[in-house]
Amino acid sequence: MDVRTHFPALDRQVYGKPLIYFDNAATAQRPDTVLALQQRLCVEANGNIHRAVHKLSADATDFYEAGREAVRRYLNAPGRENVIFTSGTTAAINLVATCFTARYVAPGDRILISEAEHHSNLVPWQLACERAGAKLEVLPVDEAGELSVAALEARLAAAEGRIKLVAVTHISNVLGIVNPVQEIVATAHRHGVPVLLDGAQGIVHEPVDVQALDCDFYAFSGHKVYAPTGIGVLYGKTRYLNEMPPYMGGGEMIDQVTFEKTTYAPLPLKFEAGTQNYVAAACMAPALEMARQMAEDAALQANLDAMRDYLLEELGRIEGLRIYGTPREAAHKIPLFSFTVEGAFPSDLAQILDKMGIALRSGHMCAEPLLRRYGQTSMLRASLAPYNTMAECETFVKSLRRAVDMLR
Ligand SMILES: Cc1ncc(COP(=O)(O)O)c(C=O)c1O
Repeated sequence: MDVRTHFPALDRQVYGKPLIYFDNAATAQRPDTVLALQQRLCVEANGNIHRAVHKLSADATDFYEAGREAVRRYLNAPGRENVIFTSGTTAAINLVATCFTARYVAPGDRILISEAEHHSNLVPWQLACERAGAKLEVLPVDEAGELSVAALEARLAAAEGRIKLVAVTHISNVLGIVNPVQEIVATAHRHGVPVLLDGAQGIVHEPVDVQALDCDFYAFSGHKVYAPTGIGVLYGKTRYLNEMPPYMGGGEMIDQVTFEKTTYAPLPLKFEAGTQNYVAAACMAPALEMARQMAEDAALQANLDAMRDYLLEELGRIEGLRIYGTPREAAHKIPLFSFTVEGAFPSDLAQILDKMGIALRSGHMCAEPLLRRYGQTSMLRASLAPYNTMAECETFVKSLRRAVDMLR
């Protein structure tokens, strides 16, 4: 497929240079199908969902629910009730941190996360543990950035039932390592502990089948998988979603309201209080369709692997450059490279490269404890999507060498 023709943002120039967009792990660009649906809904079906009987409202509701059905199919979730729309990964994890903890976590209990978590899968658990009088435990990663399933097993055995949930990232946004989530879920389940997977990066790079994975919760954001910002998904098993209390109260999440008592709407609406971002939710359908087409395109996938291998080799040749996240098996690494270069500040390099038309991420990557583990407070990150090219990788390496030379 001629993928670049579907992403108009890639054609633009910045500072007179052709854009090389290597910040896909932060936000991906949107395909023409998503842009067209966004525009169309704002013109043809801008009415509040699930409410009025008029045509615009009915159409908007149909599009919203079609977005949900597209997500359900993409994740192979058993039913519509298992797919909750949120504003993003952060909101989805906060929902579970608040409602799961309220229902199942008592003083003295523990929540286990990994050392490689984005702040979105760390701070909500700190807050929830504080509220519940529980303790947050952290499973370390090794120098390569890998998690040990044996260490998880030992930790769960030693906790003697006090760990109530394991919350780990599917793919780290810093290390680019695909965690052994299937084994993590199976191990936790052997100890009767449910698992939440932060899929913000995972949904983009691997087909996800929540029933095959058997995870209890899976959270992701639309904007990283070619949909607009302001929409995200929480997949949850029915049992937990039914037993957990609602998150926010308001319109749409109720069954009946009196001053004395309110009863709640059935799933998934119980967790969808207030007017939802129905345009963005509807856009999940074309966004996931594009993701599926790109995932099934063998040439695009081979190119992603080739770009990953090329960058691993060429970046490694730059003196003083260190890459973080180097799994023993190359297949466990996605084309996402966080690195530092001795004698050059990441933000300085990012600024110079920006002027050369290359968009990278620099800073703490929303994972301060992980960076600290490697003795860093800031890194530079290049994260690729299927629409990136080998020619862009070559330009990037040349430009990075020039930028490093300017600073040293
Ligand atoms: C692994 C991971 N988790 C969570 C998030 C938070 O996503 P959002 O800001 O869309 O809620 C991100 C975003 O960078 C991420 O990479």
